[in-house]
Amino acid sequence: MDTKSFSVEKIQHIRDTVGGGKAISALSGGVDSSTCTVLAHRAIGDNLKSIFIDDGLMREGEPQEVQKIFAGLGIPVDIVDAQDEFFAALKGKFDPEEKRKAFRNTFYTVFGREVRKSDARFLVQGTIAADIIETKGGVKTQHNILEQIGIDPEAGYGFKVVEPIKDLFKHEVREVAAEVGLPESIHQRMPFPGPGLATRVVGEVTPERVAKVRKATTVVEQEIAALKPFQAFAVLLSDQGTGVVKGTRKFGDIVIVRSVESRDAMTAEPSRVPWEVLQKIAHRIVIEIPDVVRVAYEITPKPPATIEYI
Ligand code: XMP
Repeated sequence: MDTKSFSVEKIQHIRDTVGGGKAISALSGGVDSSTCTVLAHRAIGDNLKSIFIDDGLMREGEPQEVQKIFAGLGIPVDIVDAQDEFFAALKGKFDPEEKRKAFRNTFYTVFGREVRKSDARFLVQGTIAADIIETKGGVKTQHNILEQIGIDPEAGYGFKVVEPIKDLFKHEVREVAAEVGLPESIHQRMPFPGPGLATRVVGEVTPERVAKVRKATTVVEQEIAALKPFQAFAVLLSDQGTGVVKGTRKFGDIVIVRSVESRDAMTAEPSRVPWEVLQKIAHRIVIEIPDVVRVAYEITPKPPATIEYI
């Protein structure tokens, strides 16, 4: 693929679509939304407002890190704190699809509000081909799919959606990201789902449960980074198991470690992580998150499992 002419064409397309008006970019710091943000910024400059929603479901330090990287690129990013709103929407929800829909609805309600506040009529977002295929195919309700499944964003939330990379797969997006000058920390960043850590908490998503999975995720990412997997993370199960802590039986949490190799996330194989690395991860997780008494490594490919847990 000719990434240079792709970028030139998309920049022109965004400029033509948004005209002299304003647009908001929904930036999460992942390679998809980062690429769209840079393309849109090149297209309309200061008429683009880039917003990072802090939904409380991000990894450790992520909002500030993303803001800093984009400041370095000359693109200011506003962080909108909507944590309470997301946790309120997720409260009492246990069903995976209900959780996904609650996330999506809150996500677009918050963006709708920001769009109206700033007089924008367009939301630029990083939907990619796999997102559309899997949502239309009924694999899951991906958070950023609206028009393709018959939801009119203008009627529902008050804006039109611009999706410059909706025909690309992940490896192609990475090439475009490098072409538009994004640093390696972004263009080679592990995919992280829109609904964030909510996809890695089985059962109810509460601030306390997210805090546990966030800590475990930091451990997994740190210990596994050198192996450069496609994706690696921790999952908190809703089941519990018995452990022994300081000679006393304790019914505690179970964390799953998942690491997969993939090209486009449509299929995936478990990574062959060395035993020593897994042992170190398990050791650190039970020490650093005392509620956890068991850690397991998952070896199911996709299909039949999906990569995320909800
Ligand atoms: P699954 O779990 O369906 O995930 O095998 C495939 C890829 O998509 C990511 N993923 C999402 N990304 N919004 C996103 O932006 C979502 O709702 C979502 N759900 C899953 C997942 O991390 C993997 O890379």
